[in-house]
Amino acid sequence: MAKKIIAPAQSVNGTVALPGDKSISHRYAMLAAIAEGTSTLSNYAEAADCQSTLDCLKRLGIHVESVRERATNGSGANLLRIAGAGLHGLRRSRRGLDAGNSGTTMRLMAGVLAGQEFESTITGDKSLRRRPMKRVIEPLSKMGAEIRAEEGGVAPLQIRGTQLHGMEYEPATPSAQVKSCVLLAGLFAEGETTVVEKIRTRDHTELALEQFGVEVERGERSVSVRGGAELRGCNLQVPGDLSSAVFFIAAALILPDSSLALRDVGLNPTRTAILDVLAELGASISLVSVHESGGELVGDIGVRSSSLEGGVIGGAQVAQLIDELPMLAALAPFTEKGIEIRDAGELRVKESDRIAALAENLRRMGATVEECEDGLRIAGKSAGRLHGAEIEPRGDHRIAMAFSIAALGTEGQSTIRDAECAAVSFPAFFDTLASVTERD
Ligand code: S3P
Repeated sequence: MAKKIIAPAQSVNGTVALPGDKSISHRYAMLAAIAEGTSTLSNYAEAADCQSTLDCLKRLGIHVESVRERATNGSGANLLRIAGAGLHGLRRSRRGLDAGNSGTTMRLMAGVLAGQEFESTITGDKSLRRRPMKRVIEPLSKMGAEIRAEEGGVAPLQIRGTQLHGMEYEPATPSAQVKSCVLLAGLFAEGETTVVEKIRTRDHTELALEQFGVEVERGERSVSVRGGAELRGCNLQVPGDLSSAVFFIAAALILPDSSLALRDVGLNPTRTAILDVLAELGASISLVSVHESGGELVGDIGVRSSSLEGGVIGGAQVAQLIDELPMLAALAPFTEKGIEIRDAGELRVKESDRIAALAENLRRMGATVEECEDGLRIAGKSAGRLHGAEIEPRGDHRIAMAFSIAALGTEGQSTIRDAECAAVSFPAFFDTLASVTERD
C-alpha cells in the first residue's frame, strides 16, 4: 500500500480545478441509462465510486463511451456518452454487480434493480459489505421487491425485481441515499411514490429527474414521483465537488498568507451548510459568479487564511454536512476554542467508523480528543501545536485527505498510510495539493 509523506507548508495559493461532484455523477449516469436516447455528461467524476456505478450499468447492458474533452481551464475533463436503454431496457447481468467502496452505488442501484423483471446480485468491497442496507431493504420490500441480504442486513444483496407499487415512506434516518433509492424504485412502480423527510437532505435526485423530463412534485418536506414516466436523454455538466473543495478551503484557512480560488463548484443549498458553519467560525470565504446549470447552482469560491473561533456543531445541520465533518474535526486543533461535534452517530457507519478514525489520528498528531457515541470534542490551539505523525486512514478517502491537510500545519512531517484510497472520490488529490502548496 502506497504511503504519502506530507511535509508542513507555508501557505497554499492559486487556483484549484475540482473533480466532478460524486453524488451528482452517480445520479446522472443512472438516469441516463434508463432514459430514451443518448445523454452526454460533461465533467463526470473520475472518482472510483462513480466508475463503480458505470461498471454496474455496463453489466446491465448499457453502452458507455468515454472521451476526453478540453475544459475551459485547459485541463482534460471527462465526457461520457451514455446510450439510454429506456425504462425497461436494462438486461440481466450473468455476473454479479460490484459497487466497490460506494454506498451510493449500492443503495441507489438497489432502487433501480428492484423494478426490473430479472434478479440481480450486488456486492461491494470489505468496507461496503459491513455497511447497513436494511435502510433500503425495508422500503423496497414494502414496495413489493424481494431482497435477500447477509445476516445483519448487509451485502451481498440478491434483488428479485418485480412489479412494484407506490407508497409513502418516511426514512428513520435522514439519508439522501435512501430517499433516492425509493424515488428511483418509484419510477418503475404503479401509482405515486412519496418520500417524507424530517430533515431535508441533498436534493440532486429530484433536480436530475426534472432535467430528464420527469415531473417531480415537491412539498416542504416531501417529494413524489409517478411510475411509468418516460425519461428523455439530455446533455448535462457535472459541477465541481464541494465536498472535495472543502479540503482545499481548510488548507487555505489554517495556513498563513494563503489565498485560493476554486472554480465551478456545486453550490446546491442542500450541500452548502459547511460554508455557513465555516463562516460562523470566522472563515473568510466569498462566492462569485453564482449561476444555475442543469438545475444546480454553481459558482466560484474564494478563500483566505482566517482566524477560526471554534464552537459546537450538532442538530439538524449535521445531516447536511455529514461528509465534511472529517475535515472539520481535523481542523479543530487549529481553532481558538476547539470544536465539538454532536448528533453525528451516522459517521460510525460510513466508509470507516469515522468517529473512531478521527479520534485515533487526531491523538496520533497530539490533539486532545474526547470521543462519544455520536461525536467528538476536540481541543483548540491552547492544547498545544500538533506534530507530524503516521496516519492510518482505515481505507477511508475522507480520513486520508483530512489528515493530509492537517499535516500541512503541524510541526514535522507526517506519513499517510494507504494514501491511494483518496482516489475513491478524488484521484488527483495529491497532485492538486502539490500544485498549490508553497514551502520555503
Ligand atoms: C450521499 C448521501 C450521503 C453522503 C454520501 C453521498 C448521496 O449519505 O454521506 O457520501 O450521494 O446521496 P447518506 O444518504 O447515508 O446520508
